[in-house]
Amino acid sequence: MRFQVLALDSSTNEMDTLVVGYDSMESLGEACSRLSDHSQKLLQTLIERGEIKAEKGQCHSLHLVDDEFSKLILVFMPKAETRAAVLGPIDAMSGALKSFGSVNAAISLPAHALVHGQLLALCNTIADRQYQFDHYRSGDKTPSKLTDVSFLSDDDLSATLSLADGLLAGGTLTKNLGNTPPNVCTPSYLVEQAHALADKHANVHSHALDVEQMSALGMGCLLGVGQGSRTPPALIVMQYQGAGSDTAPIALVGKGVTFDTGGISIKPSANMEMMTYDMLGAATVFGAIEAAATAKLALNIVAVVPSAENMPDGNAIKPGDVLTSMSGKTVEVLNTDAEGRLILCDALTYVQREFNPSQIIDMATLTGACITALGHINTAVMGNHQPLIDDIIEAGLTAYDPAWQLPLSEEYDEQLKSKLADVANIGGAPAGTITAGCFLQRFIENDTPWAHLDIAGTAMGGQKLATGRPLRLVLQVLANAAQQ
Ligand code: BES
Ligand code: MN
Ligand code: ZN
Repeated sequence: MRFQVLALDSSTNEMDTLVVGYDSMESLGEACSRLSDHSQKLLQTLIERGEIKAEKGQCHSLHLVDDEFSKLILVFMPKAETRAAVLGPIDAMSGALKSFGSVNAAISLPAHALVHGQLLALCNTIADRQYQFDHYRSGDKTPSKLTDVSFLSDDDLSATLSLADGLLAGGTLTKNLGNTPPNVCTPSYLVEQAHALADKHANVHSHALDVEQMSALGMGCLLGVGQGSRTPPALIVMQYQGAGSDTAPIALVGKGVTFDTGGISIKPSANMEMMTYDMLGAATVFGAIEAAATAKLALNIVAVVPSAENMPDGNAIKPGDVLTSMSGKTVEVLNTDAEGRLILCDALTYVQREFNPSQIIDMATLTGACITALGHINTAVMGNHQPLIDDIIEAGLTAYDPAWQLPLSEEYDEQLKSKLADVANIGGAPAGTITAGCFLQRFIENDTPWAHLDIAGTAMGGQKLATGRPLRLVLQVLANAAQQ
């Protein structure tokens, strides 16, 4: 799929679909002046009959005859004050393009909808609606038909559309990795995918640490989680170089638990299959590298993905075990199901010591409590550096992929006291998302600016496939950083 801008006086006669977002009956009439006289007459009749109005929720898909366009999609798109009111028409438009099976679409939008964030959200939503995951179905596959999406405008939209291209490539990767079943998507599969990404882009490099190398570095927590599985853990490193080598990289760290049974603290079997998505933090980091490379962002990124399968077996870690992390801190494992923080803490230590990043953003499907707190709407954000958190919240507002801050104050950290080790891996039921954040914070050195995103609610949308969120937010953060 291609996103492009077409000057208002360009011809659209190669296109099968005209999409019009209108905020008044006048703007509808104006955008429809591209239609044949016959179609305009039809439209006039429908308007006179009161079938087409400037009213919330209006979305019409019409087949045309005697016109260059064979399909017409009309969506009422008023200047909106709330996120829901902005995203509603965007969803309707994207859904109509999918159900119409359009191939080449010309899109006319009111000026207020041509701003960066809304246009990016529209491109991303169109791509999401076209996305199919039928790799594991035999028989007929129904690939997306949409090849060209052209925005009719005389504005320079190139910066936004270049990010949209990145988001399309990165989002597809994130969702494909996320949706690949857990018997296929193992830590070693993710290692191969990192190498594939490096093969694709000249300025992306990858390597991975195996069990032996991780042992040599003392990554006892990551290795501890991996030791209950037949498929060995790995630590994956991807580097994107979009700026000079003297600029410190931004670090992205993503939880890559390719399946989370809970380990010896085993989960109930109802919905356990959803734990195939416990690597969506990793998948989002992969998508961010692909997106940054595609959009050619001018910054350096180091991505670190600790990956393991959390299984119960004769060699698995047990409640009560004490592990020694790479940092030297000892961790009492009170619950083997709080495994995400165990693999992340070693990844955080590694990325700080090895790459000295200017800031660190980690992302993880870390706690069920996050879904209870924020549902599937907001990503939870917390960290040690308010300006970085503010940047993330701001980027989420800009890109219509919101994040909400939870307080990471030291009172909560008390809950992590261990009776014999430096820290316990759980802090009890109250504020489970925050105590998980407190655990991670203990592994941040020298006050390096760090933010943690709990994406359990946003990356997983109930019983459906991976949502692709919050890649739009993450890419917006990176794009903003590249501008500075
Ligand atoms: N991967 C889960 C968190 C999760 C649960 C994400 C449900 C999405 C949906 C994580 O490893 C986990 O099991 N967390 C525990 C932590 C608890 C033991 C402190 C949880 O949330 O119950
Ligand atoms: Mn778990
Ligand atoms: Zn998990």
